[in-house]
Amino acid sequence: METILPLPFLISVAVPPGLASSEGLNQGEVSSLGCVFFDATSSNLGELLDILAKHNADFQTFFDGSALESRDDIVSLLDHGARKVFLQPQRLPDFSAYGERVAPVVTKLNEITGTEKQLLLKNFDQRSCDVAGFLTSRNVDKFPPLFIKPVLDTNYEHFVDICSLVNAIPIIPSAQLTTKKDESEKKLYIPKLFSNSWKTDRADKLLPTVVCDERGIALGLVYSSEESVAESLRTQTGVYQSRKRGLWYKGATSGDTQELVRISMDCDNDALKFVVRQTGRFCHLEQFGCFGDVKGISKLEQTLISRKVSAPEGSYTKRLFSDEKLLRAKIMEEAEELCDAKTSDEIAFEAADLIYFALTKAVSAGVSLADIEKNLDSKSLKVKRRPGNAKGEWAKKEGIAVGPAEKAKDAAKESSISITSAPATNAQAAPDAERITMKRINVSEVSETEVETALRRPSQKSAETIMGIVTPIINDVRQNGDKALLSYTHKFEKATSLTSPVIKAPFPQELMNLAPETIKAIDISFENIRKFHAAQKEEKPLQVETMPGVVCSRFSRPIERVGLYVPGGTAVLPSTALMLGVPAMVAGCKKIVLASPPRADGSITPEIVYVAHKVGAESIVLAGGAQAVAAMAYGTESVSKVDKILGPGNQFVTAAKMYVSNDTNAGVSIDMPAGPSEVLVIADKDANPAFVASDLLSQAEHGVDSQVICIAVGLDEAHLQGIENEVHKQAMALPRVDIIRGAISHSVTILVKDVDEAMRISNAYAPEHLILQIKDPEKAVEKVMNAGSVFIGQWTPESVGDYSAGVNHSLPTYGYAKQYSGVNLGSFVKHITSSNLTAEGLKNVGSAVMQLAKVEELEAHRRAVEIRLSTLAA
Ligand SMILES: *[C@@H]1O[C@H](CO)[C@@H](O)[C@H](O)[C@H]1NC(C)=O
Ligand SMILES: *[C@@H]1O[C@H](CO)[C@@H](O)[C@H](O)[C@H]1NC(C)=O
Ligand SMILES: *[C@@H]1O[C@H](CO)[C@@H](O)[C@H](O)[C@H]1NC(C)=O
Ligand SMILES: *[C@@H]1O[C@H](CO)[C@@H](O)[C@H](O)[C@H]1NC(C)=O
Repeated sequence: METILPLPFLISVAVPPGLASSEGLNQGEVSSLGCVFFDATSSNLGELLDILAKHNADFQTFFDGSALESRDDIVSLLDHGARKVFLQPQRLPDFSAYGERVAPVVTKLNEITGTEKQLLLKNFDQRSCDVAGFLTSRNVDKFPPLFIKPVLDTNYEHFVDICSLVNAIPIIPSAQLTTKKDESEKKLYIPKLFSNSWKTDRADKLLPTVVCDERGIALGLVYSSEESVAESLRTQTGVYQSRKRGLWYKGATSGDTQELVRISMDCDNDALKFVVRQTGRFCHLEQFGCFGDVKGISKLEQTLISRKVSAPEGSYTKRLFSDEKLLRAKIMEEAEELCDAKTSDEIAFEAADLIYFALTKAVSAGVSLADIEKNLDSKSLKVKRRPGNAKGEWAKKEGIAVGPAEKAKDAAKESSISITSAPATNAQAAPDAERITMKRINVSEVSETEVETALRRPSQKSAETIMGIVTPIINDVRQNGDKALLSYTHKFEKATSLTSPVIKAPFPQELMNLAPETIKAIDISFENIRKFHAAQKEEKPLQVETMPGVVCSRFSRPIERVGLYVPGGTAVLPSTALMLGVPAMVAGCKKIVLASPPRADGSITPEIVYVAHKVGAESIVLAGGAQAVAAMAYGTESVSKVDKILGPGNQFVTAAKMYVSNDTNAGVSIDMPAGPSEVLVIADKDANPAFVASDLLSQAEHGVDSQVICIAVGLDEAHLQGIENEVHKQAMALPRVDIIRGAISHSVTILVKDVDEAMRISNAYAPEHLILQIKDPEKAVEKVMNAGSVFIGQWTPESVGDYSAGVNHSLPTYGYAKQYSGVNLGSFVKHITSSNLTAEGLKNVGSAVMQLAKVEELEAHRRAVEIRLSTLAA
């Protein structure tokens, strides 16, 4: 959702002093224009958050956040209601969950390609910028709104003209703006900025203007002129232009005055909207507005307000206003009746009653509907969700288990980054009550295309965008080595205290302090993974005598230097270190380099250090993302260059791996393209619904972009509901329920007739993990053509494969199981072939070689055989 600015300009306000400053617009003027821009710094952040806390429902606020280093600070701005924060483009990936609310800031015209979303161009200097060149090379009409902030000593009038040429929204300091005609020589006159950008086809150039109350209910249609807008802003009341009688100060004769709340412009600049607080009525007839009286909730509010002032003695409303206990009892009673209502008529009836009593409570406390709606609007901007669990006594009454749900609170907070990629707009709609459920598709009832569409993986950012972000990072690390690597780690991981990007073996014991039970778990897994991979070693080279005297063989050698990427992110992943490190060790790789993003204090998870120690790693690179991949691909002063990079990662890691593997100067290969994790469970009527649900959820908790698929073989409605109930019930008790909600939203249950149909769909999907919870699962294994790893039968949950069974869990995702294997011993070795001929052998095969060399006209090839055969003949 792009923000469309309801003003032809944006007011930049300095903090301190804040909204009202002595030389700029006053607070009322800023407030009635309603769109403000701030430069955020770590020293003014506190004041900015205060301003947001007070005004976030009144203003649209925009921030240059590029001076804020801490991610938390930026998240705080968003959570307090910032509509948009502009950041350096390379930091955007870290904030992708916030969608359009975080946008890039650039400093040069030529950095604007026109493909971006909204963006901020700052420090613009019209004296040195080639605006004409820019205009001829780009189609500015196609641009999304571009915001431009000039250097300080600019000629603002000229600047505003240029902005209108390039279709941009100028950001103008409050001190350069005025609503006073007599200052219009020195400053930009706001009514003029409006009238310059509005388009009217009327001969008198007046602009149609809709007048609304604070709830957006239209009161009537009037006309504005530059002069009436000026008067309205100056007096902070409703002033319009009468088509016959000149300036019209609304209420000057009738007494039904208007307080100005906001002036804004519509999306195509051909109408104004005035939001006002109306005293009395707007219409000259006996009705509130020119389109009639208000209805519904607005009408109820009007009635309650007038009753509060003058309710007839003994009336029911009077009793409610004066008897707090009665009102409380009624609210509780109506809430319960609403919960019990079943039909839509009953629900409408009971909800209306509840709203009546709730609004009575509000009006009696002087709280208006506008206040309530403002509150809803600011909640909708929050990015750190409230978990919204039922409180103790209520939960108990409804038989909701409180323990895990309470624990979920903390986890939900931590994972707030990921959950907001689900639309953040319905915070007010009590999302927590929503049932967590996968959509259903019955293969017998829909077309093949619909099945394919349902199975489409959640889309990834376009490859180009991502390459555009990672390429500069890779080049920087390649050219500037450790210095660049460290600076990215300082920036992205916030590990500003880190002074060296690498720790070398032997790793100090104090970095591996772990609970004995964790050590034991790692040791067991280590041993199982080692055993299984050691068994994959080829005992002796493969040898075949293809003709008498012609012996061909193939033998394997470890890849000498490998780089293993272990992601940080929302979960600690020592298991990934094991799954990559152990096969590398078993294969005999001489140099094993691990890379993993450090924590903000510069330290690395001790589990990872312990695994690095056990697999005999040479070093651990304390970095993540594209920069870690680049460091291992090209080497830096302290990071060893490697020959192959393996391991899962986010879209940026994957893009960086693709990039370096394609660069012949790097001389590095990669394991496989990787994407978000996924599972496909095939279940028949023998499957235990609780087991099926638990497998789906164990994958869904990885991230909001994970996908889980359930193929239901011949299940009836009762079976399906059994699984759906389990999914909802188990999910609600999980700490990462919000992540799960995101993943489930693009997951699906597919109903099929039989196992063959299920396998056909599964093979087409090529899941990373395939779980068979069906009768005779072994028989189905023969039909598996595409899958990363298969989990057979009801006693084999995916988690065992993820951690301890012995099979690796670095598996191809996103459908790449059609082409790639998961990580296995073979990933760490290469095969070399050899031939060894006797003289007899050369005689046997020689004439075939010479004939083919002749056909290909490679005479030297032919002679290499001929010269030997003649020697033998001599
Ligand atoms: C690989 O390199 C070639 C030549 O430099 C380039 O044209 C191509 O776009 C690159 N592909 C990827 C996936 O980076
Ligand atoms: C799926 O569709 C078939 C054919 O219409 C129908 O017989 C079957 O009952 C459906 N399954 C479910 C669970 O709705
Ligand atoms: C890893 O997974 C692949 C794909 O499932 C499998 O072929 C391979 O044998 C596994 N190897 C090990 C040792 O984990
Ligand atoms: C090459 O072949 C000869 C004759 O068969 C054999 O004696 C010799 O060991 C072989 N060498 C290797 C390295 O396989």
